[in-house]
Amino acid sequence: MPRYAHIVGWGKYAPPNVVTNSDLAQKINTTDEWIRERTGIAERHIATEKESTAMMAINAARAAIESANVSSLEIDLVIVATATPEYQFPATACLVQSAIGAERAGAFDLEAGCSGFVYALSAAAGMIRGGMYNTILVVGAETLSRIVDWNDRATCVLFGDGAGAVVLRGSDQPGGVMASVLGSDGSGGELLIVPGGGARHPAGPETVLSKMHYVRMNGREVYRFATRVMVEASQIVVERAGWSLDQIDLFIPHQANGRIIESATKALKLAPERVFVNLQNYGNTSAASIPIALCEAIDADKVEPGDHLLLVGFGAGLTWAACAIQWTATKPGVPALRHRAATGRLRYAWAGFKALGWRLLRRTDAAVSKVLTR
Ligand code: UT7
Repeated sequence: MPRYAHIVGWGKYAPPNVVTNSDLAQKINTTDEWIRERTGIAERHIATEKESTAMMAINAARAAIESANVSSLEIDLVIVATATPEYQFPATACLVQSAIGAERAGAFDLEAGCSGFVYALSAAAGMIRGGMYNTILVVGAETLSRIVDWNDRATCVLFGDGAGAVVLRGSDQPGGVMASVLGSDGSGGELLIVPGGGARHPAGPETVLSKMHYVRMNGREVYRFATRVMVEASQIVVERAGWSLDQIDLFIPHQANGRIIESATKALKLAPERVFVNLQNYGNTSAASIPIALCEAIDADKVEPGDHLLLVGFGAGLTWAACAIQWTATKPGVPALRHRAATGRLRYAWAGFKALGWRLLRRTDAAVSKVLTR
């Protein structure tokens, strides 16, 4: 019997701190008009010191688990798509796994720039369809504000922070992630890059002085690439799913630039009401942009069981990715969500307590064996 991978839960987190275009115009040589006209962005959520990629990923993951009504112990795997991980290592996914008490789960990060979430969703769906796992948590989380040069007007106005997550589950019922397209053209790697801090140029005074740990982007070339691959990937994935473009009920593209979305929408001949856009309030949140947009589309009642969804991302690598999804989930009611959030809090407190216990035990064990081996 064929297996299918359905999205059964979703959640998001955006830092409450909002920075408008006018706020930016007071600090750098830009204007609200320029940013709106060239990008469609009006404001973005920016993490405060207390917020970080792992913290946002954990919040989005918990919301997704509550909406899915699964136990953390049922989760087989946690994948976090991010280009701004909490640390070089351990993986942010391991921090999420521990914080949600997913004691049976494996965990890894996936880096495919702004295409990361769709890459992760495709990988997870493949594992479920192949029978390897049954329940997978997929998160897209970014703190881009920590790697943009706030004096570079060409990049800092574009990005925002946030996280979105989904729970994917196996079932014999047809539907869910029906087809995927993953693409890469590494020859364009230099067009969107953080050159410093990796093995090629390890972090040091030199890399800091030459601002190599900030995002560098050739905006025009990325723009040209994006308008092309969005259309191509959409056409291929829809064909792989055995659908036609006029069956698409909702197109959820990566939220990088309103003009890129408009150009792709026109080329694909999709009516504007079948396209979801929220970049005016978020900017480009990279791997978090599509799951955040999906959550907002569901909240706005734009996604119904039976709908055909098309998700398309593009970004650093260069990479691109698309998924065709036949939606099957229904929205849980508010009382059910409140109840699950309350029991969730207890479960997460217990998970935190256990993790602390293990940490203390490990430290005590290390100290004791040091004394004994003297
Ligand atoms: O997730 C993938 C991430 N990246 C993308 O999706 C980015 C794709 N590219 C884009 O979205 C667009 O290329 C940008 C929005 C980044 C730039 O728009 P553009 O229409 O391609 O502008 P441009 O880079 O050609 O710059 C036009 C002018 C330049 O001035 P001059 O040389 O014509 O005098 C820039 O210096 O606009 C200037 N400029 C700005 N002016 C005011 C660049 N940034 C700003 C700014 N405010 N923030």
